[in-house]
Amino acid sequence: MAENYYDSERGLSEYLLFHYGAPGPLLPPGWAEAGTLEFPARCVSQFLDAARLAAQARALDLGCAVGRGSFELARHCAEVIGVDFSQQFIDVGNRLRQRGSLRFKSFEEGELTQARRAIVPPEIDRRRVKFEVGDATRLRPDLGKFDVVLAANLIDRLDAPLRCLERLSGLLRPGGQLILASPYTWLANYTPKKNWLGGFVRGGRPVKTHDTLRRILSPHFKLIRRLDLPFLFREHARKYQLGISEASVWVRR
Ligand SMILES: C[S@@+](CC[C@H](N)C(=O)[O-])C[C@H]1O[C@@H](n2cnc3c(N)ncnc32)[C@H](O)[C@@H]1O
Repeated sequence: MAENYYDSERGLSEYLLFHYGAPGPLLPPGWAEAGTLEFPARCVSQFLDAARLAAQARALDLGCAVGRGSFELARHCAEVIGVDFSQQFIDVGNRLRQRGSLRFKSFEEGELTQARRAIVPPEIDRRRVKFEVGDATRLRPDLGKFDVVLAANLIDRLDAPLRCLERLSGLLRPGGQLILASPYTWLANYTPKKNWLGGFVRGGRPVKTHDTLRRILSPHFKLIRRLDLPFLFREHARKYQLGISEASVWVRR
């Protein structure tokens, strides 16, 4: 069976760079930054309405990977739980929580690597964050209620995205903020086609993911904002992915 990318050495290296990489090493030579870096941090800084949060606000970061979004949520929330399916990512999140930084290698060309350091912004209180392995489609029942749920670039990596979305209304308190972001890259090796939320034709009409999200979420949530959120993902020194997630913010009725 093929190795799970998120549990691989390369996946870890690429995500550490994606979450914690400084602009210098992350940008293709000669490129302007153009708001494509620090994607998990922007998901929080651009979309969380911190003024609406109570002092003891709780946040949940679903598919947190190596944790940058969870740490950013801790700027505003007293308790943050980051959940990811990958034991490797959660172990690294916990190491970053304990030490505040971590040495790793980025892939540059073939087997050539470069020593790097991932650093959690020092002003963040890392003690507010807890990481745990979990399945966003089968969350443990005793997680409690949250004021914020972030699911960044997650839904199109789930085998059953609808099951995850259906749980959200029960996780958020009234007035709670749901921040979704996804490039809607539906792939059958992550999500069986029968479970795609969009990206196909049904009854002669194109089905768009945003429309499906609206249909599923509208009974319990009010859509507040919808915006494109670009991100640059570095594979190696000469190969990058430019993605454009669609971010949407929903408030629990
Ligand atoms: C595309 S990455 C996005 C990571 C991070 N949120 C970001 O924006 O950079 C998808 C993440 O979801 C995790 N994941 C995949 N399936 C999951 C599941 N069923 N439950 C929880 N996490 C899952 C993967 O391990 C990976 O960390």
